[in-house]
Amino acid sequence: MKTIGLLTSGGDAPGMNACIAAAVEAAEKRGIRVRGIIAGFRGLLETNSIPIGTELAGLARRGGSFLGTSRNGNLEKELAEQGIASAMSRCCVDGLVVLGGGGSLGAAARIAADGAPVVGVPCTIDNDVHGTDYCLGFDSAVNKALRAADEILDTAESLSERIFIIETLGGKTGHIAVAAAYAAGADAVFVHEIQPDIEGAARKIKTKMDAGGTHGLVFLCENLGTSEIAAKLESIAGRRVRITILGHTQRGGNPTYLDRALAREFGELAVETLVTGDYGKMVAYKAGDVTTIHLSEAVNKTKELDIAKYKAVNGG
Ligand code: F6P
Repeated sequence: MKTIGLLTSGGDAPGMNACIAAAVEAAEKRGIRVRGIIAGFRGLLETNSIPIGTELAGLARRGGSFLGTSRNGNLEKELAEQGIASAMSRCCVDGLVVLGGGGSLGAAARIAADGAPVVGVPCTIDNDVHGTDYCLGFDSAVNKALRAADEILDTAESLSERIFIIETLGGKTGHIAVAAAYAAGADAVFVHEIQPDIEGAARKIKTKMDAGGTHGLVFLCENLGTSEIAAKLESIAGRRVRITILGHTQRGGNPTYLDRALAREFGELAVETLVTGDYGKMVAYKAGDVTTIHLSEAVNKTKELDIAKYKAVNGG
């Protein structure tokens, strides 16, 4: 293999740049050139790539992806029509590392099934890719949510008698909300995967506050109906409710230590996997080890929520 292409796709995630930097270093050590595909699968389709080298290592500490990303949309269909082999050859790459979440890795799996030399790297703050305990970006996003909770709790404990709701990203998955709620010691967490018991949570918070507790703290995932839930909590608990929507603040910013360290390991292993011809794989983090699994194992499957942490917060 003479030239590897690196492509970041879907929602960007803290750690993508660090992973690119590590992959470039690992490739250069083997005498392999690297090209960055600009704006995800769109760049592959439109023959938009640039040579990248270790001089870009300083970008490793930055969030986002300096290559840019795109949501798949129709791109995958257009790519299939064009032919993946021809798109790769026009971008002057013999192998491809795709960094992204479930949708992007699904595209990578289909390209791999068509015979293309592809390896995936799970990157999404949602941490919802099956077959890996960890996706790059998750720790940074959860730490952002925790920092917000810490700051909100300063005021919650001072000017008491209120309930604070923090809305996290996560799409239809509650991994961020559950992890943040668990670590922040929240009173409740509401997610898509499990029917929320809003009344039960409101009564629990009311009991705590009636007994002298200064405040209530609830995390919930986006798209659950935050305003309606707030109104219900307010009417049952009889306390004013304040909402903070974290939105895309969770996806930006410099990656944490965990994201940078795993980005290095994932990047190095992705290159090694590609170079040894072990195509159609995804690097993964399982039970404390960095390893590889088949891309087909990762896609079209739902990653289970951490039920123990969910119950630790909500009870039951
Ligand atoms: O990448 C995952 C994610 O950040 C989800 O948590 C969120 O629902 C979605 O992307 C937001 O997408 P966009 O940035 O396209 O609005």
